[in-house]
Amino acid sequence: MQTEVAIIGAGPAGTTLGLMLHQAGIDCVVIERQSSDYVLGRIRAGVLEWTTVEILDSLGVGERMRAEGHVHSGVSIGWRGREILSIELQALSGRPMMAYGQTEVQTDLYRRADEVGLTIVFEATDVELHGLTGDVATDSPAVTFTADGGQQRIDCAAIAGCDGYHGVSRITIPDEVKTEYEKAYPFGWLGILSETPPLPQLMYVNNERGFALCSERNPMLSRYYVQCPLTDSVDDWSDDRFWTELLTRVPASAAETIVTGPSIEKSIAPLRSYVVEPMQWGNLYLAGDAAHIVPPTGAKGLNLAVADVRYLADAFIARAEGDQTKLARYSTTALSRVWNAVRFSWWLTMLLHRFPDQSPFDQRAQEQDLYYLASSRAAQESMAEQYVGLPLYPDLT
Ligand code: APR
Ligand code: PHB
Repeated sequence: MQTEVAIIGAGPAGTTLGLMLHQAGIDCVVIERQSSDYVLGRIRAGVLEWTTVEILDSLGVGERMRAEGHVHSGVSIGWRGREILSIELQALSGRPMMAYGQTEVQTDLYRRADEVGLTIVFEATDVELHGLTGDVATDSPAVTFTADGGQQRIDCAAIAGCDGYHGVSRITIPDEVKTEYEKAYPFGWLGILSETPPLPQLMYVNNERGFALCSERNPMLSRYYVQCPLTDSVDDWSDDRFWTELLTRVPASAAETIVTGPSIEKSIAPLRSYVVEPMQWGNLYLAGDAAHIVPPTGAKGLNLAVADVRYLADAFIARAEGDQTKLARYSTTALSRVWNAVRFSWWLTMLLHRFPDQSPFDQRAQEQDLYYLASSRAAQESMAEQYVGLPLYPDLT
């Protein structure tokens, strides 16, 4: 088989890239290790930057999101046990955000892929990349894999590694070419889903007992998190213990409003930051979690994946029109936005969590950061514009 771009991975990055290239008339094939049901079964975050909303609209994927998603003009921060600081995203940045689960986004992406005839090979095993030398002039890229009981080979002009952190693409780049940046946080997030009405607005909480977050999936499905030690397991947390802890951490006015109920999903996730540079090597281009991981605090994971593939698709479209410069600069362009989001996610994680080894100085400095955010419109504007997502192509004139 021959194609222009072989895309490894059919998560948000790979599927969105496939739809962008298909829309532009650029031949591509998506190769996914798991079944579509397996991919759809993953529980992920639920906040879309407005840039992501607009990109999904442009691909014909926005109808259900617009009908069932919840547009929020602000988010809240609970602190000092009782205070609630409202960050008016729309008023401060000019753009809102959309609460709509990643599982729903992925469902809509797969539905659109079927509608337009995007080729996604599911349950492809033994995926291997070939013909990559690090030099676009000498590369002869190809992908081999086993699917439908037989060995298959796709020769292509480029490979897009959208196969997540544990994929095969990033590790194909030689260690001597890569610089990896990593930070692990000394705690995890225990998250539950409950078939209960959510709070009217997302609420992040800094409490002396630890971080908490009140979010949503739909008017009758809430998503809540509490910071927990990395040594905890889900079995340590009964529903009663979870609700008692959450209602202790959130401000009293929120605790009076939260509707508790049985959890229908409960899981613990570690928090870490990771970036690999560069995000390209010869005709191999990394996008999404294959290149970077952010702590969920800033809800940037899905949004960064979509932004990466917008840059990459624009670069492939430019090359099809004879301009190689965007593709040559893809990594530089993408990493600028990636590092903005990685730093923002780190800052928000440092602002809102209790660190086991936090010194009194660290604690007091964190409190002052919250005071400054509460008292400065400039600080709130800075948080708002980063939360809703910086422009893809900033107007620096
Ligand atoms: N061959 C083919 N597919 C693979 C391989 C492989 N060797 N390894 C992994 N995959 C697939 C995975 O099964 C997964 O479906 O690649 C896909 C990668 O998807 P994600 O991990 O979701 O990464 P990405 O598309 O970049 O989206 C990032 O998804 O995981 C969340 O928190 C993350 O919100 C972020 C977003
Ligand atoms: C979620 O709804 O899962 C969610 C929302 C906001 C975040 C992280 C996760 O910052």
